Order: sequence, then structure tokens, then C-alpha cells
Amino acid sequence: MCGIVGYIGEQDATPIILKGLKKLEYRGYDSAGLAVLTNGHIEVRRDAGKLANLEHLVDETPIHGRLGIGHTRWATHGEPSARNAHPHMGATGKVVVVHNGIVENFIELKEELLKGGAKFQSDTDTETIVLLVEKYMIAGDDLETAARKTLSRLKGAHGVVIFSSNEPDKIIAARIGNAGGVVLGLGEGENYIASDIPAIMEHTRRLIFLESRQMAIVKRDGVTISTIEGKPVTPQVSSIAWDPVAAEKGEYRHFMQKEIHEQVRSLNDTLAGRVDFEEGTIRLPQLNLTDETARSINKIVMLACGTAWHAGMVGKILLERIARIPTSNEIASEFRYADPIVDTHTVAMAISQSGETADTLAAMEEARKRGAHLWSIVNAIGSQAMRVADGYISMQTGPEIGVASTKAFTAPLVDLYMLAILLADKRGTIDAAQRKALVHDLRLVPELVGKCLDREKEVEAVAHELKDTHDMLYLGRGINMPIAYEGALKLKEISYIHAEAYPAGEMKHGPIALVDKNMPVLALATRDQWYEKMISQIEQAKARGGIVVAVATEGDERVASLVDKVLWVPETPWMLSPIINVIPLQLLAYHIACLRGLDVDQPRNLAKSVTVE
Ligand code: AGP
Repeated sequence: MCGIVGYIGEQDATPIILKGLKKLEYRGYDSAGLAVLTNGHIEVRRDAGKLANLEHLVDETPIHGRLGIGHTRWATHGEPSARNAHPHMGATGKVVVVHNGIVENFIELKEELLKGGAKFQSDTDTETIVLLVEKYMIAGDDLETAARKTLSRLKGAHGVVIFSSNEPDKIIAARIGNAGGVVLGLGEGENYIASDIPAIMEHTRRLIFLESRQMAIVKRDGVTISTIEGKPVTPQVSSIAWDPVAAEKGEYRHFMQKEIHEQVRSLNDTLAGRVDFEEGTIRLPQLNLTDETARSINKIVMLACGTAWHAGMVGKILLERIARIPTSNEIASEFRYADPIVDTHTVAMAISQSGETADTLAAMEEARKRGAHLWSIVNAIGSQAMRVADGYISMQTGPEIGVASTKAFTAPLVDLYMLAILLADKRGTIDAAQRKALVHDLRLVPELVGKCLDREKEVEAVAHELKDTHDMLYLGRGINMPIAYEGALKLKEISYIHAEAYPAGEMKHGPIALVDKNMPVLALATRDQWYEKMISQIEQAKARGGIVVAVATEGDERVASLVDKVLWVPETPWMLSPIINVIPLQLLAYHIACLRGLDVDQPRNLAKSVTVE
């Protein structure tokens, strides 16, 4: 979950690293640091808290050099403090390391190092890495050999970047398992290392993604890749087309706000080239879906976490209703311990904006082991979840920086709808007229999202009413039940208000006991087949003194007369309504968090890529 940047070349490494870290701060923001080779020795600057503190420190005590590494931390071992911040340096001051992941056997390694007389300066597991490399170098190994020996002893998943003042012409970068990516950026007479593309994309678009158990020796004029065991690997260079401007905040106050507003564009991009509105057909070429596979699937298992899991909840309904394929939506962190029933006729479909969520990747591995065909819906191009799958759907949203996922929630909803139509068509569960009607409905989506965004001021006014609440209940039914879950998650993660979501029909089985004037209820009550049921839920909540805010279809006076506040959405075909109905809930959470004066883009305790189990 931490962010890593490295540079070797002719330019001053410090500003390149700091700028790169800024782009990665969403990955972790407990502390930050950098190490630069200056006149033959290593200088380190580190500080607790956000990157701004490190920038301030570097302003006060500048460092310059042509080789350096930097890190933003999401703490796992040891409190967020300057002494636990990366980079970590060995006792000789000649080796330095930044690390993303958890050294699962660090207690054992630490004991061994302590017995050998090593002194630890921090509480981190990472320090064992630098002390081991240093120990092997003191015993006579060069940096490469010492790094190989060290890496081969680490249990767990890691991205590791190391350099030594003894060998000032190189940086070593390695990846083990699924602790997040390590990407190398190729320049002319200079090269870059990062844990994620945005950190380096303003410098180069020629990238090499390290696979698990690969190690790179990065020099000014070239990169050599091998396995950790030393077997040479021929690198595959990919180019990416993301626009760096897409990762800037522009006119918006926060990335989250920008990303909410980008959904008109991202959904248009999601449809572009995939939907033929004239013919009423869908193309998802990267899925590699043959007619034979489509017909042989007897079950789809969706694997995801958090917001992506909520997208899977909607996907289950769409795949079962449209394609008539039994589908389960599994929480990835539970799946691999569940002895899941999966066979060669099962498709395991991972949903992940980062494509590097450790739980999701582990669940994919488990499904693969049991013979499943693997698909993924992923935003981060070149990420592990994209690469290990037999086929994928790329979200087309561009980089999502705000930790609270928004545009990377609505894009997979459209993807899953398209997938359901494609499968249904191939399996014959819908006829041509039904297919055309379903495809036709899709053309409305970006415009309807735009209409919701136009009502931002109204949502902000409701946010003023709710900003001081301590608790909130979100209710939905059918295809909008997942939207209740997603709305509640958005609220809790950025506003720190306790929010719970329930399928509205469950209220009478217990949760209604919570309802009073201090527990506002948000009800998703748009006009669909669950509408009457939602109306009666609203009435029950009102009868108990509850304050009710409803998401309702424009012009619905009946709902308006029953509730305290309305968040209006345009009339939408029910299967696409989750995409529309979630927009006011994203805006509501956003404005409540702003009104509470919170750090919307980097909420406490969270990180954008959850690369630890
Ligand atoms: C979303 O707002 C959350 N920050 C989080 O639940 C996220 O959706 C989850 O960690 C899964 O991430 P992924 O899509 O990168 O796999």
C-alpha cells in the first residue's frame, strides 16, 4: 500500500522523487522519506505525516544527487513516526531500502540479526531487509548477490528498492508476490522506478512491469532483469496512453469531486468502441470470450473487496436476470478460506480498480488452482489482476486518485451490464429484440449521470442538514440494495460517520429498533418494482420519528410528501438505475466530509491500494 519512487540519471533526483511521491501519496500518508546519493554518501530525509512535512524538511536541509529513492508509508509494523519512516539505512550508512509489503518472517530474521549483533533503529519489519543486505555485503558479497540472498529469504509479498553507496551506478528493484506492482520507466540516459504509473508518467510512457520474483538492476543507460534466483528474463516493454492531465485536480477542490464529475466522460469512454447502438451489439474483445466458453459456463463467482464488491452485488443481479447464469458475489478475503466449490466450468471474475488488492489476487489464485477460467474488470493498466486473467475488461476511467472510489464504481456496473448482454446473446437467453432494447437503454447513461451532477447544489444543501449526525441508516431493495451499501461505505470512509446499510425488508427483523430522530434514514425509493415496498419502509421509519432522506424519481410527489428531504434522480431503466442512484450518494458523502473539514482525498487509516492481507 506504500508508494515507492526511484530515479537514476543526469537530473537532480530530489524534485523528481518528491513529485512522484505526490502522485502516490494516495497509497499511504503516515510518513514519507527519501534517500539520495550525494557526493558518494547516502543522505536521508524522513518525517512523520504527509508528504508536505517531508517537503518542508527538504526545503530546510536540501539534498541533491543523481540517484535516489523515496517512499510514502501506510504503516503496518511500528507506529507512524519519523523513526519508522522509510528509507531505512543500515548501520554502516552504505545501504538503504524502501519497501512495500510485510516481511512475514521478520521476527525470526530479527532474532537472527540481533544474535549477530545488529542494532535496530526502528520498529519496522523493513529494517530486517536492509540489515540483511548489509550483513551479506560486509561478508564480501556485492550488492546484487546480497540483494538476491536477502530477497530469497523474505516470506510474504514485497516490492523492494535498494541502493548502496559502494556501487553508485545502480538501483536494485524487486517484486515478490502481490504486494503491489513495481514498474520501471525507461528514459534516455535515465531510468525510473515506481510502485504505480502516475508517479513517473510525466517522464516516460515506456514501461516494464516486474512479475513476481523478478529483480531489476537499474542503471542510467539500461535495465537488466532476472529472476531472484538469477535466471535472465527478456523484458517486455509496454507503452501507456494515459493523459497526465487526467491525474491533476484542475478546477476541483478535491480529486474525489473531480472524479465524481468525470463520470459522464468515463462512462462515455466505457461505452466507446464496445457498443454498437445501430446493431444493438456489444464487443468486449479483451475478454477473449469464445462461443464455446460462453456456453460451457455453469457458474460465475465474483471476487472483490469494498466498493468493488458492491459493484459485484449489482453484477450478480444483472448476470442472473439477463444471462441466467447462477452467480455468487464473494468477499475476496473470505473466498480462499471457504473451500469454494469451483470447477472448470466456473468463471471467476475479479473486480478491482487497482488490480493489486492482495485479497482479490489471492482469491483469483485460489480460483485458478481449482480450475476456474479467470476474468477481471480492472482500471490500472498492466496491473496483476489484468495480467493473470485469461481475459479482462479495462474500466476506461483513467487514474482514480481519491481514496474513496467513485468513477471506478460506476464503470464496472456498465461493464457487467454489457457482459450480461454478451453472455445472454451467446447463450440464447435473450432474443435479438431484447438484446437491442437492453443495448439501447445504455445510450442514456452518461447523460442521466450528468443530470444528477447538475443537482450538486441541492445535494450540498442536504449535506448541511446531515453534517452533525453521528449515525445513519441506508436502505434499499433489489438492484438498489447494493447502492445502500455503497452509499453507507462512502459516508463512513470519508466523513467518519457511522453508517449502516440494510436490505429494507430486513428492518422489521431488528434494525428498526434503532430508528428515532437521531438516526437519519436514507431510502433509495426510485420508481421500480420495489417502489411500493420502499414506500412502506419510509412510512414505518416516519412513524417512529425518523428523519428520512429519499433518493426519488424526478416529479415523484408521493415520496416528496412523505420524507424530509429528497435527492432527485432522473427516471432510468431499473437495471441501470444503480449507476444513476449512486451519484447523489457520492456527492452527499463528499459534501458532508467537506463540511466537517476532513481530508476527503486521504481519509484516515485508509489507502488506495490495499496490498496487504
Ligand atoms: C472504496 O471507496 C474503498 N476505498 C475500498 O473499499 C476499495 O473499493 C477496496 O479496497 C477494493 O479496492 P480495489 O478496487 O482496488 O480492489
